[in-house]
Amino acid sequence: MKNHRNIDVWLERACHLTVVGLSLTAAFLLRFDFAIPASVVPIWKQALLIAILVKLPIFDWVGFYRSLRRFVSIPDLYLVFLGNVAGSLLLAAMSMFFTGPAMPRSVLIMDGILCFVATALVRFSVRIYNATFRERSAEQRTGILIYGAGAAGAELAREIHANRNTKYEVKGFLDDDPLKQNARIMGIPVLGQGREAYSVVRQRNRRGPSVGEIIIAMPSATGQQMRETLANCRAAGVPCKTIPGIDELLSGRVLLAQVRNPSVQDLLGRQQVRLDEAHVAASIAGRSVLVTGAAGSIGSELCRQVARFGPGCLIAFDQAESDLFRIENELRERYPELELVTALGNIREAERLSEVMRQHAVESIFHAAAYKHVPMMESHPLEAVCNNVLGTWNLVRAARGHNVRNLLMISSDKAVNPSCVMGATKRVCERIVSSRWPGNGQTKCVSVRFGNVLGSNGSVVPVFQAQIAAGGPIKVTHPDARRFFMTISEAVSLVIQASTRTEGSEIFVLDMGEPIRIVDLAENMIRLAGKVPYEDIDIQFTGMRPGEKLMEEIRGKSERLIPTSMEKMHAIQEQPLVWDKINGWIEELKELIAERQERRIIAHLQTLVPEYTPSMRGAPQPVIMLPVKRPSELRSA
Ligand SMILES: NC(=O)c1ccc[n+]([C@@H]2O[C@H](COP(=O)([O-])OP(=O)(O)OC[C@H]3O[C@@H](n4cnc5c(N)ncnc54)[C@H](O)[C@@H]3O)[C@@H](O)[C@H]2O)c1
Repeated sequence: MKNHRNIDVWLERACHLTVVGLSLTAAFLLRFDFAIPASVVPIWKQALLIAILVKLPIFDWVGFYRSLRRFVSIPDLYLVFLGNVAGSLLLAAMSMFFTGPAMPRSVLIMDGILCFVATALVRFSVRIYNATFRERSAEQRTGILIYGAGAAGAELAREIHANRNTKYEVKGFLDDDPLKQNARIMGIPVLGQGREAYSVVRQRNRRGPSVGEIIIAMPSATGQQMRETLANCRAAGVPCKTIPGIDELLSGRVLLAQVRNPSVQDLLGRQQVRLDEAHVAASIAGRSVLVTGAAGSIGSELCRQVARFGPGCLIAFDQAESDLFRIENELRERYPELELVTALGNIREAERLSEVMRQHAVESIFHAAAYKHVPMMESHPLEAVCNNVLGTWNLVRAARGHNVRNLLMISSDKAVNPSCVMGATKRVCERIVSSRWPGNGQTKCVSVRFGNVLGSNGSVVPVFQAQIAAGGPIKVTHPDARRFFMTISEAVSLVIQASTRTEGSEIFVLDMGEPIRIVDLAENMIRLAGKVPYEDIDIQFTGMRPGEKLMEEIRGKSERLIPTSMEKMHAIQEQPLVWDKINGWIEELKELIAERQERRIIAHLQTLVPEYTPSMRGAPQPVIMLPVKRPSELRSA
């Protein structure tokens, strides 16, 4: 590829050499009515030598050859102009110096103009060729509409135009901005708004297929905008593709190569988190960082992102041996320089935690180890409190005892007004983390609360994907169940950001956007798989499971969200409990655990989390009747 580019540049230089010679000769011929007198020939030869020696290096110097000829545009024309002006001025100065007044000035002016036009033609030759001759094979290419006439759409159109191998032919743009209607972008018309996709495609295809596909070029669209856009494309009845969101685009590859089928991530939001890289790097680089639950979905992403900032040592702690082995291999492969320690262990064992902190002089902790599955924890409340509550208590004690600088615990929206044991344990963990340590403890402890992350272990997206792959049905608990969603990488970026800005004891709450109806997600995922909901793949409503809510909340009634200096993040500052009170409460909990008193444990949780409403375990769950109409029909009714 590089060789190919070198050959192309040398070929272009050779063309410019010829152009410089020919334009000067043409200028002489024009000046002397196509018969250069013998007395002028030496002047012509000398000027020719100077022009070649002067102009070609100047063309190189101003950067003629930096952009590929396929992709040249207006800024390149400006460079051609600049190079020619500089080259012609220098040629004039040197000719005057060596030849004196015998050098005709009109020749210099004509040469300047001719040389500019000819070098520009050479620079734009590939684009002109593609624009002129590719038309012949138009019938072999797919006509497309670009949805989004902004910078990304225009760039995509330009690449398609410049790429002779592309299978696409841009027929027009769709854009919701009324000011862009009927405008032309690079000569391509804006044919209508997004909701007019159906009529635009129908009109274009009236006399045979013209538009075969729509490509969405809206890299910063929100999840809501993407869902509407996809609905408009579906209505148009042609396949649709998309360019990725901003974060993926930053990978710097050519836009056209990144066109792909829309994914669930596109449906659920694609805004990028702008990390304050310098700040994050300053608080991670060179430090000894411990991640608990490192083998899980969030813990492993934490390890990946922390590794990027060059910690002095990364300690990946987890009880799950095989999963820890897997993430170890991945990290060693991706970050060969990383000082990585995999620590197999259980946060329920205080001794093991102390040992790890002592051995590796831990300075920062990200705590993601927990049991998280709601129905499973409903049937194992004892395990839930032992693991989540005692484990977090052990970790906070060890961190404070070893003067770790900061500890950040991953909490969950299920901790708000909990209706399940898992949520109640997470709320207790928040209270443990934010409690006031006696004396001058230097450890800043903070929690970050958020909703579901896409694609995590056992989460709804991989479960639905498997159900679609098996031919259905997709099982949804309730037609009105809604959840907040975020991508793992976005949530973890925000978590890392929060760890650098804490004063201690806050609960940070991530702004998760609008909650999504699970049934809408299921329908959209079926459509993304190229199938029709309820026809190809059925959706069944199974009824709420113990401890589940129709809708999660992100803050309790008495909690006030305070804005922070960080994007997409609010904080809750609550009155911290004193550590002694926590200790007393834990001692009682341990006694109840020893007696295996499940009901009393639940009641004990309520003493610290009065807003906890336990589900009626064992009580019959409400039966959800399958709607006679489909949910989408009910909505539009
Ligand atoms: N996944 C989500 O959608 C989501 C959303 C918000 C909050 N959270 C919270 O983030 C945390 C992690 O979630 P996840 O999705 O990564 O879960 P996960 O199940 O993928 O990972 C949890 C990891 O913790 C480890 N672990 C559990 N108990 C341990 C113990 N006693 N000692 C050592 N390791 C232990 C497990 O082996 C596992 O690797 C949970 O607290 C969860 O509530 C998750």
